[in-house]
Amino acid sequence: MKVIKTIDSLRRDLQLRKADGHSVGFVPTMGALHEGHLSLIHQARDNHEVVVVSVFVNPLQFGEGEDFESYPRDIERDQQLCEEAGVDILFYPSVEEMYPREASVEIRVVQGVDVLCGESRPGHFDGVVTVVLKLLHMVEPNAAYFGQKDAQQVAVIKQMVQTLSMSVQIIACPTVREEDGLAKSSRNVNLNTRERELAPALYSTLIKAGELAKSGSSRTELMEYVAKNLDQLELGTIDYVDVLTYPELVASEQLSGTVIIAVAYQFSRARLIDHILVEL
Ligand code: PAJ
Repeated sequence: MKVIKTIDSLRRDLQLRKADGHSVGFVPTMGALHEGHLSLIHQARDNHEVVVVSVFVNPLQFGEGEDFESYPRDIERDQQLCEEAGVDILFYPSVEEMYPREASVEIRVVQGVDVLCGESRPGHFDGVVTVVLKLLHMVEPNAAYFGQKDAQQVAVIKQMVQTLSMSVQIIACPTVREEDGLAKSSRNVNLNTRERELAPALYSTLIKAGELAKSGSSRTELMEYVAKNLDQLELGTIDYVDVLTYPELVASEQLSGTVIIAVAYQFSRARLIDHILVEL
């Protein structure tokens, strides 16, 4: 595996591999890799001759007072995990390499961001889309792999690819969970012991809400049910609870088709998100 830190050497290396007719699969990450990331890497490994993983904690997608500084970083472990997973290129640029000068163009997401994380983290998806667009220009992969765990992120990126007529295929992969149901996340290491015990309540509450949705509960009833259950946790606070159509992310009292029930929950040092999709 090659570890590459500059855009120029990444392009040079990929040019040679593509000249051999090899197809390229790309997995963008912010590192602190876990089995969720690895599932994307394995899927890319199955589908392509060349697999590129990027590790870059993107300052642009963190708001003021968010956890950019305390976001977990462990490049040595990431490097080892990538090596074991058969990654060909680990792209690990610095902030200066990615953002060397003041931007002359700003990218603003205008669809699907007035709800969920878009609403509670203003500017977050502008930062995500900017870095993903830059990375896709650098790697020019045949396909890029994203986790369904970040359901709004996948929806926003798929819409960007359509809007900008890009040819890359965006592949969404299922959420990988701990045995007790907690969605794997780099931020889980920032949960204290008691918070870690409580955290699976997010998913178990969503599962029960999904059953209620199937038996005809309204949007308001579902939101109240989830909020009431999570309010009972002895630690942390609800950031949001919402029930929307997916992937359009529109609020509608008449629930039909694919519906997302989503929560964001703030523990002392970790904000967790989770959701389920229900077919109605
Ligand atoms: P990060 O949180 O590191 O996640 C990288 C990719 O792994 C994302 O596509 C995410 O959805 C996926 N992922 C995370 N946890 C997962 C899980 N439990 N199961 C399946 N997939 C999971 O998301 C980002 O980084 C950034 O926003 C990024 C797209 C890299 C842009 O900076």
